[in-house]
Amino acid sequence: MRIGVLTAGGDCPGLNAVIRSVVHRAIDNYGDEVIGFEDGYSGLLDGRYRALDLDAVSGILARGGTILGSARLERDRLREACENASDMIRDFGIDALIPIGGEGTLTAAHMLSEAGLPVVGVPKTIDNDISSTDRTFGFDTAVGVATEAMDRLKTTAESHQRVMVVEVMGRHAGWIALESGMAAGAHGICLPERPFDPAQLVKMVEERFARGKKFAVICVAEGAHPADGTMDYGKGEIDKFGHERFQGIGTALAYELERRLGKEAKPVILGHVQRGGVPTAYDRVLATRFGWHAVEAAHRGEFGNMTALRGTDIVMVPLAQAVTELKTVPGDRMDEAESVF
Ligand code: F6P
Repeated sequence: MRIGVLTAGGDCPGLNAVIRSVVHRAIDNYGDEVIGFEDGYSGLLDGRYRALDLDAVSGILARGGTILGSARLERDRLREACENASDMIRDFGIDALIPIGGEGTLTAAHMLSEAGLPVVGVPKTIDNDISSTDRTFGFDTAVGVATEAMDRLKTTAESHQRVMVVEVMGRHAGWIALESGMAAGAHGICLPERPFDPAQLVKMVEERFARGKKFAVICVAEGAHPADGTMDYGKGEIDKFGHERFQGIGTALAYELERRLGKEAKPVILGHVQRGGVPTAYDRVLATRFGWHAVEAAHRGEFGNMTALRGTDIVMVPLAQAVTELKTVPGDRMDEAESVF
């Protein structure tokens, strides 16, 4: 079998572990040939690829980023790929394509599958927002980075009697904010799923100061929005990949709190630090298992599916099912977090 693999969308720790696992399983067990397309779907469209043998993936298990490069795909180019799907299969002699990516990548994978490409998807994203899988790799690493950052910020916040507003990633789903906020004992957590009222945060900080706790850490997801009429904060326009351009809620909220409280409030934007560097052991294991099962699925001819974690098992789920809706934080998980502030 000739297997093509690519990594698309925002990168995330564990991508290299999947590539390595695919190559090992395919070559060691089946004597397959594996090629890697460069920079996501663009490599597929432009015919940029290289052979991936055991040497090519040696030493990459713990390396962050992706050795293949990644890119987001504009919708026009995706349409072009779907129209030329059968030519691409013939030109590259591919028996199976394994795209590793998040919501956008898996939607593209589904479209390519519908257009006739033999596709087995592998979900990834630090946001953990892909439905049909309990977890995506990269999430555990991102939560660890954000938690450590807030642990550190607490000590300096306390020294200076400051409010720290820590902005973490999470466009539509607040999983990183929820779990890192809980793990670090943040005093406030704001998620995209539930508009927040800055007046409640002001009240919380004032009560803490009144109790002699003269600092606070608030964890806010980049996609969080204040409730209508509570604070001046606009919605951004939509970019060419269909994503809202955020206006910087961390900075806006810190400014707002400083103004209302008359106390120093500092924004800390963690940004891409959450996506860089070595994956945790958990993410390496999940990524490795996903790669292994993707190759197995390809050999069983189970195309149009993606790997997913259910409990402790890896199962295959239809791409169509996985891309219908995002997995957002349910209300009861938010309630649990609020009860421990
Ligand atoms: O989808 C993963 C993610 O890291 C989001 O959390 C974030 O909003 C986005 O990617 C950032 O994308 P980019 O790297 O293109 O700025």
